[in-house]
Amino acid sequence: MVYSITLLIHSYLRWLVLVSLLAVLASAYAGLWRPRPYRPTDQLLRVVATFIAHTQLLVGTYLYTISPIIRYYWQYRPSFSKAPQFSFFGLIHLSLMLTAVILITIGSSKAKRQTDAQQQLKTTAIYFTIGLLLILLAVPWPFSPLANRPWFRPF
Ligand code: HEM
Repeated sequence: MVYSITLLIHSYLRWLVLVSLLAVLASAYAGLWRPRPYRPTDQLLRVVATFIAHTQLLVGTYLYTISPIIRYYWQYRPSFSKAPQFSFFGLIHLSLMLTAVILITIGSSKAKRQTDAQQQLKTTAIYFTIGLLLILLAVPWPFSPLANRPWFRPF
């Protein structure tokens, strides 16, 4: 019960993570395209997206401790070639997502400390783009060859 609810939250939170990162990037690239001051909206979008990414990290970490897939992976260590989805969730998903959230966090705090608007937008664009690409790579999309999960998990 706790497992299925956590999985459901983790599954839907992915969309909030993606939408919030896209909003940050749209605003940052628009500001780079047509130079302008760094606005409170840029700051707000950046902080909110970083917060959502941290929340997903927490939910994912908890899920990692209760997931039967992870328990099976660490108990039997099934080979990657025979059953890729165990290594995917046991190692790949975890490390790529962790790296992505760390990059987003570093980018966000760097941008906060900078004083030049163009520099702030550039820092945000670079770190958040790499973070988003890593996340897109590590989500178990329905078409993923390693581990596929539904677009929207049924309730
Ligand atoms: C931004 C970061 C993350 C995103 C967008 C994300 C997204 C997802 C998605 C879409 C699923 C499939 C859910 C489903 O079956 O419907 C999933 C599964 C999973 N995630 Fe994440 N995740 C993130 C970070 C993490 C982290 C950091 C961990 C671990 C520390 C983690 C652990 C897991 C585990 C263990 C599963 C599989 C659970 C199971 O089926 O038993 N995730 N994740």
